[in-house]
Amino acid sequence: MFSKQPHNAQLPFYRRKRVLLVLLGLVLVVVIVIAVGLGVGLTRGGGGEEEEGEAPTLPTRPPTPSEAWQPAVNSSWQIVLLSPLNVSEDATSVEPDVEVFDIDLFINDRETIDTLHRLNKKVICYFSAGSSEDWRPDFDDFDESDLGNDLDDWPGERWLNLSSPNVRGIMERRIIMAAEKGCDAVDPDNVDGYQNDNGLDLTEQDSVDMMAFLAGVTSRHQLSIGLKNAGDIIPTVLPIVQFSVNEQCVEYGECDTFRPFIEDNKPVFHIEYPSSAPSISQNTRQDYCRDSGDGDGSEEFSTVLKDMDLSGWVEYCSGMSATTQ
Ligand SMILES: *[C@@H]1O[C@H](CO)[C@@H](O)[C@H](O)[C@H]1NC(C)=O
Ligand SMILES: *[C@@H]1O[C@H](CO)[C@@H](O)[C@H](O)[C@H]1NC(C)=O
Ligand SMILES: *[C@@H]1O[C@H](CO)[C@@H](O)[C@H](O)[C@H]1NC(C)=O
Repeated sequence: MFSKQPHNAQLPFYRRKRVLLVLLGLVLVVVIVIAVGLGVGLTRGGGGEEEEGEAPTLPTRPPTPSEAWQPAVNSSWQIVLLSPLNVSEDATSVEPDVEVFDIDLFINDRETIDTLHRLNKKVICYFSAGSSEDWRPDFDDFDESDLGNDLDDWPGERWLNLSSPNVRGIMERRIIMAAEKGCDAVDPDNVDGYQNDNGLDLTEQDSVDMMAFLAGVTSRHQLSIGLKNAGDIIPTVLPIVQFSVNEQCVEYGECDTFRPFIEDNKPVFHIEYPSSAPSISQNTRQDYCRDSGDGDGSEEFSTVLKDMDLSGWVEYCSGMSATTQ
């Protein structure tokens, strides 16, 4: 960027002095910015395993996908991961009548996605980008050396080495599958291994690099991509993702962390798991749906109340509930 500037030596002395002063000023600003960045990086964190010296950075910024879908803030949605949707090809409606469906990439077929499109729905396809799941058809493509510790409470799942070229190749093929099935977006899960006992020394920077890799692939295939949870890396990856999928920010009192999405005109698809689901009292619903106290910062989040299995049942903050077949 400096190549078009005349060389210092060609300037009269007084101009050179001014240039020097300006340069000194610039250096000072850069030093302050780095110092502040370090401070922020050190005070953030929250339960992270690794010691981090500086905020993670994007390796390169992939081109903004021109044809990819940018969902709107406050879009209505449903998420069903437990089983495939059962919608017939000649269906005239689907329950509930919301704008966006987040469904499992592997177990739903192209016909289901075509039908949802015909009914004017957008489709986000879910897969795990940061854990192996031993029941997936491409599971044998992972090398044993790609796999870390088991995920607590999720049998058959192990953390993945996000830097492994083999793992990235598998995730690229999954995104291509999403494009071939006609998905509008992908919801890559488990990219926050750094917050967990993963056995692979995963860092925030590994997660940022993985998101940059995935966003590069989605943008080449005209798909949108969301960031699942991973609050710590939002400031870094916000420019390359189109939405957030968040679990339990009200329960953990951290919705403010996800607020930058709304300010960037990107929706937060927000899930809470009341233990009493599916018979939630009005008080419980109001607790999970409030935008003060533990819900501070959650205005205009797209909130759904779900059971932990992510079955077809859903309830909304309006009190409306429905079951998708
Ligand atoms: C958000 O969407 C709901 C319907 O899903 C609507 O009732 C509400 O008015 C919307 N809020 C804003 C601020 O647009
Ligand atoms: C799908 O829905 C159809 C029509 O409601 C029903 O006959 C069929 O049993 C359902 N299939 C499954 C696997 O639930
Ligand atoms: C993860 O993969 C990278 C790239 O192949 C490798 O350099 C690194 O050693 C691996 N990490 C572990 C913990 O195996």
